[in-house]
Amino acid sequence: MAELEQRESWGSRWGLILAAAGNAVGIGNLLRFPAQAAQNGGGAFMIPYVVSLLLFGLPMMWIAWTIGRFGGRFGHGSTPGMFDRMWRHPAAKYLGVIGIALPLLFCLYYTYIESWCLGYAWFSLSGDYLSTAGRAVHLRTYLDEFLGNTTTTSYFPGFNAAITFAVITVLLNVWILYRGVAKGIELLAKIAMPALFLFCLVLVVRMFTLGEGRGSIWDGLQFLWTPDFGMLSTPKVWVAAAGQIFFTLSVGFGSLECYASYLRDNDDVALSGLTTVAANEFVEVIFGSLIAIPACALFFGADQVPEIAASGSFSIGMVAMPEVLRSFPGLEFFGTIWFLLLFFAAFTSSVGVAQPVMAFFEDEAKLPRPAAAMIVGLMWILGTIPILFFYRYGALDELDFWAGTLGLVVFALIESVLFAWIFGLRRGWDELHLGALIRVPRVFRLVMKYVTPALLAVIFCWWFVDAIAQDLLVPRPRVSYAVADVASFRGHFARGPALAPAEPAPGGDARSADQYRTAVAAQVEAVEHDLFGWAEAEIAADGRLRIRSFSADPTLLQVLDAAALERWLALEGFHYEPSDAERQAPAGAASRPVRLQLEAWNRAPYIWLVRIVMLGVIFAFLIIPHAIWKRRARLRREEIGAAAGPAGAEVPS
Ligand code: ALA
Repeated sequence: MAELEQRESWGSRWGLILAAAGNAVGIGNLLRFPAQAAQNGGGAFMIPYVVSLLLFGLPMMWIAWTIGRFGGRFGHGSTPGMFDRMWRHPAAKYLGVIGIALPLLFCLYYTYIESWCLGYAWFSLSGDYLSTAGRAVHLRTYLDEFLGNTTTTSYFPGFNAAITFAVITVLLNVWILYRGVAKGIELLAKIAMPALFLFCLVLVVRMFTLGEGRGSIWDGLQFLWTPDFGMLSTPKVWVAAAGQIFFTLSVGFGSLECYASYLRDNDDVALSGLTTVAANEFVEVIFGSLIAIPACALFFGADQVPEIAASGSFSIGMVAMPEVLRSFPGLEFFGTIWFLLLFFAAFTSSVGVAQPVMAFFEDEAKLPRPAAAMIVGLMWILGTIPILFFYRYGALDELDFWAGTLGLVVFALIESVLFAWIFGLRRGWDELHLGALIRVPRVFRLVMKYVTPALLAVIFCWWFVDAIAQDLLVPRPRVSYAVADVASFRGHFARGPALAPAEPAPGGDARSADQYRTAVAAQVEAVEHDLFGWAEAEIAADGRLRIRSFSADPTLLQVLDAAALERWLALEGFHYEPSDAERQAPAGAASRPVRLQLEAWNRAPYIWLVRIVMLGVIFAFLIIPHAIWKRRARLRREEIGAAAGPAGAEVPS
């Protein structure tokens, strides 16, 4: 047990609880949860959500803590070593590799999102997205340009700002990891978690004192909590609830296992696991539903909330919320608080998810902490580069699907089978109750043995089949259009119901909006590179765009001309909504010239590159334990051979 003495430990029980809660509480609680609930039947989402919490969230949390403390007893803070101790089979350590590859891949994109929050905290503090300095700030374009999702340059000349904040965020994470478990992660949690709680309270009070908007706070709560029981028969809702539970609790990452590995043998894990779940659920269900959606309902009106929710977590957090906050006094203060809240929530999660990778290099490769932090930092920076530069090609979503969704289920399935069937439920149950401050109800024995693994297997199959059915495995081009001179407009460009009667354009062109997109995408696939088009247009009295001229790559012109583009935009309901001042002006916004940019991104090569990077990370992590375990076996053989004389002895690897 010499290894145990060298390993770090938590400074206090209170610190560990805060760190574990910080690990679980993240962007998932404050943005992903309300978006998922709103998209999946409001109140009815809570039924599969609670079922998922009880049938695999809570059991997996206990399993993770138990496996972690067990592995820590032998000096292992990451799952290759833990699994090797639980299952004396050569394959065990290779299965455990998933528990270091997944967290690293997850961190690559999660910290990028975290860095947006840091960036937006700065933009809020400096009032950058207020409508000043002679330009109107359209927050959707602002976000797209910040991330390099479009090539228009109304607010950001390139995405240097995004790169800067990403580098700062990765360095902050590596610095905390370098400081260690007690002086880094625990100290961060002791500062960030109370701050997070305070920020939540400040924002809830602010939301309830905003006054009047197009709707009310209650509309938002009603929208979120009115059950649509019809949704319960949709498998998608159940799978979404299961995905949310994994993401929000940080189970299936190998991360809480690592936290538990720094416990002593008789330290409780049963109550600690339960406390982590309770703290996470409190923040998720209370604060997650009291801030973003009610604010949007108040400002935009209840009828707009489904559309906002459907546009996803980032739209709610980075577009709708800043829009609300800047419309009331105190943007600099409340906007900064909102984004710092998201940043702190994400920060305490990302260091937690990355810690198993650190522990792997420290415990298995026996590297000193600075060297481990340097290697992790280097991998992190290198891995972030494709996500930054290929964001517009969907690199982040790709990682989110494989590492942040499917991977978690696969790893949880492996862990649950290993725990209940190979390590043995009886042994696992005793291990869980060693030093326990509570007794886990016996019904969870059945759940852990049969229900959790079976349900995880069903979810995995569902996701896989669904991905194939939706053709998600074959990357298709992304087609979008943006107004290049948007900053000179005070009103908004928006999509709505189709504007034009669907009569064919001149020449008998009767394609639907989807068919226009598909035709452009097909051209991209044919030439295998990005295609662009530029249109000069003007705003008609009814808000729609009249295209005056259209120039583009000749390949694109084969399927699209000015008339077809105009018809396509009308079919998508693309129109201009004048500002109040423009409405009152005699001429309004009519006849104003607009420059439109059509962008069609050839995603395939970049998505395949991201997939190769993912496989490369897994492969690299497979090689390292292979070499370490081989070397260990050789040293043991030599040791025993030296002790036993020339005959030596066979030692299992
Ligand atoms: N559990 C973390 C979150 O909710 C990853 O964001």
